[in-house]
Amino acid sequence: MAKGIGSTLEWLECSLCKAAFDVDEVHSLCDRCRGVLLPRYGLEEAARTFNRQAVREREPSMWRYRELLPWVGDPITLGEGMTPLLKAPFLGRSLGLDRLFIKDESQNPTGSFKARGMSTAVTMARDLGVRRLILPSAGNAGGAAAAYGALAGLSVDLYLPVETPDPFRLEAAALGATIHLVDGSIADCGARVRAEADGRFDISTLREPYRLEGKKTMGFELAEQFDWDLPEVVIYPTGGGTGLIGMWKAFDELERLDLIPSGQRPRMIAVQAERCAPIVKAFVEGRKRAEPWPLPVTYADGLRVPSAVGDYLILAAVRDSGGVALTVTDQEMADAQLAMARGEGIFPAPEGGATLAGLKKLVEQNMVDPGERIVLFNTGTGLKYPRVPGLKVP
Ligand SMILES: Cc1ncc(COP(=O)(O)O)c(C=O)c1O
Ligand SMILES: [Zn+2]
Repeated sequence: MAKGIGSTLEWLECSLCKAAFDVDEVHSLCDRCRGVLLPRYGLEEAARTFNRQAVREREPSMWRYRELLPWVGDPITLGEGMTPLLKAPFLGRSLGLDRLFIKDESQNPTGSFKARGMSTAVTMARDLGVRRLILPSAGNAGGAAAAYGALAGLSVDLYLPVETPDPFRLEAAALGATIHLVDGSIADCGARVRAEADGRFDISTLREPYRLEGKKTMGFELAEQFDWDLPEVVIYPTGGGTGLIGMWKAFDELERLDLIPSGQRPRMIAVQAERCAPIVKAFVEGRKRAEPWPLPVTYADGLRVPSAVGDYLILAAVRDSGGVALTVTDQEMADAQLAMARGEGIFPAPEGGATLAGLKKLVEQNMVDPGERIVLFNTGTGLKYPRVPGLKVP
């Protein structure tokens, strides 16, 4: 395949057995060991054009990092990425912190960070000749897949848990996706997708190798927005963990390119819902892999993920960073959603609220210093979720 000018994508590497795979074909997990495949780039070639100055002058979207993204033809883009890094002085003061920030991913197309991953995944699917996509989703990924699928002219079959709120369904239907409701969790949706794919290409996160690449741009943006001096703490709401794994990969690539000093990465904090916390359980028990969570319950749809294919990558990133994994209750998330809304003017998704609730716990346990730069990831807008537990709406 002729590579588009700019992308230095070279091969896919299995994150477990290190086998190499060709980027000219569609792939899912490693066919030898079921490990997650990680895209690898020609970093020496990338370094010729990818530097602080060059990047600064490019378009305000995640495609400003195009050497380190997968594409051949023109990217399928709706302007995703380069979301604002906002100061959160009110919340900071209330927690005794001097330098608190919110990376506001709700300002992406379709209202969540899922846009980033779908832009790269749909771009590569189109480049590889795929015509029909299929995926399970908690809601936000489905809306994003529907949007990018529509733009690329690909069909999208979407499997959603039956309790997925109406706004997610409305959005995906309006964008032309075919919706299948499944009586169960996202894991049950995934099983149905695999059983019913029938030639359609499964773009489940991490089973498909390129959604990760879009999400890693959150890490590039953090570096750029902090003037190439990464913050001390990143707090991320973790379901499948693609964003966290992606940022960790981005930091690795930036270190290899000498764009950030090595060994000065943030502590990565994974926040999960108390009643769906497979990663936290494995973290606390010192395990490398997580067991499936039997009965996942939370109103934060994106955190209702009972098992993640990239569990070992999330756990490794959290541990290598010196971070922790912790839980918050649904009510703590809801209170934090309102605190963020009323304090900083951002109405976050419950998952965004979870990061603030998690930070509260870190502060209570003296696990962050007042002067540290701390970033909360508001991964989506609150507008697609019909309720905030405890909030009375007239
Ligand atoms: C708003 C929101 N935040 C966080 C997540 C979890 O994302 P990840 O799979 O990267 O852990 C999701 C996933 O659906 C989501 O929709
Ligand atoms: Zn392998």
